[in-house]
Amino acid sequence: LFAAIDMAPRDPILGITEAFNADTNPGKINLGVGVYYDDNGKVPLLACVQKAEAKLMEQQSPRTYLPIEGLAAYDKAVQELVFGAGSPILQEKRAVTVQALGGTGALKIGADFLKRFSPNAEVFISDPSWENHRALFESAGFVVNNYTYYDPATHGVNFEGMLESLKAMPQGSIVVLHACCHNPTGADLTQEQWGKVIEVVTANELVPFLDMAYQGFGAGIAEDGAVVRRFAEAGGPLLISNSFSKSFSLYGERVGALSVVASNAEEAARLLSQLKRVVRTNYSNPPTHGGKVVATVLSTPELRQLWEDELAGMRVRIKEMRDALVKKLADKAPGRDFEFVREQVGMFSYSGLTKEQVGKLRAESIYAVDTGRICVAALNSKNIDRVVDAVAKVL
Ligand code: LMR
Repeated sequence: LFAAIDMAPRDPILGITEAFNADTNPGKINLGVGVYYDDNGKVPLLACVQKAEAKLMEQQSPRTYLPIEGLAAYDKAVQELVFGAGSPILQEKRAVTVQALGGTGALKIGADFLKRFSPNAEVFISDPSWENHRALFESAGFVVNNYTYYDPATHGVNFEGMLESLKAMPQGSIVVLHACCHNPTGADLTQEQWGKVIEVVTANELVPFLDMAYQGFGAGIAEDGAVVRRFAEAGGPLLISNSFSKSFSLYGERVGALSVVASNAEEAARLLSQLKRVVRTNYSNPPTHGGKVVATVLSTPELRQLWEDELAGMRVRIKEMRDALVKKLADKAPGRDFEFVREQVGMFSYSGLTKEQVGKLRAESIYAVDTGRICVAALNSKNIDRVVDAVAKVL
């Protein structure tokens, strides 16, 4: 059996981290994976997380199984963050939430659930999209198509093209949308454009699946989440995956959630029972630690304020790095316009570097995704000059 099995290709994002880890050059820089590093090049352990962990240590809780859908306090905190505390969706008990293994785990629970109840629907992801979206929905058994999204000429969204794609989708199609901080391009829709998307999605009876892995890295926590509320108000089925990997710097704890909005409380209860089946048959129930930390921070006013301040600090530092990158590239690569990097939102920049140029950077121990996506959140005051020099050289 095993002798006939081929070698699988390296993961397009995490495979870069593998290559980076194997590189013995002390000056190596990883601009591949979407991870926030501080100005010293370290993944921060947030003060709000440390304080919540200290509180939890005092309680010395036994490590019993969590409910299949996760910690109740966590699911509640997620709902209030995603839909807004006091949202009519919550008052009407129309939303159900299950704790998930990061944003990826949430997407997979949603994909498996949808495959069970809408087996013939096709999935549409943006062109381009997060490298794992296609593989994840295909592994759940779906045919995955692209909808028009990015325009390399403007470094922005081809919005007319996107609307045409949405209008052409068969009724019941599942459309995966990036709620904020589009991965990989950093090109987001305006609020007005979102309004038009919601109109078409609703009129054509599409099933929106909002992926929100970077809430708080765009304009702010509430601002980035606004689109979820608008979709929820529009009525119709809605799925939202969210992640605290980046916003709490809790990557390895795998803390995320899937929320589904039903048309009434009775329907919501049925959906939750089916989501629990998906979880139980995959990994039974989620781990305790990350969920407890996030629930503690979100439900303790002073820790929550600390988190919001720390998240704002990360957001501001990324913007400073965008500015610095644009200014330094203007010096080192005159004649090339990188102004668009300032307009992009979130952790990433779709830099326009070709696969060949990315390969040349790699020879200098600077790692980026083959598509030219770079993680601006991995730049700092000490490594940016080396990155700019290397980019100028390969251009
Ligand atoms: C990324 O896009 O780099 C992150 O979302 C990490 C991942 O799992 O791919």
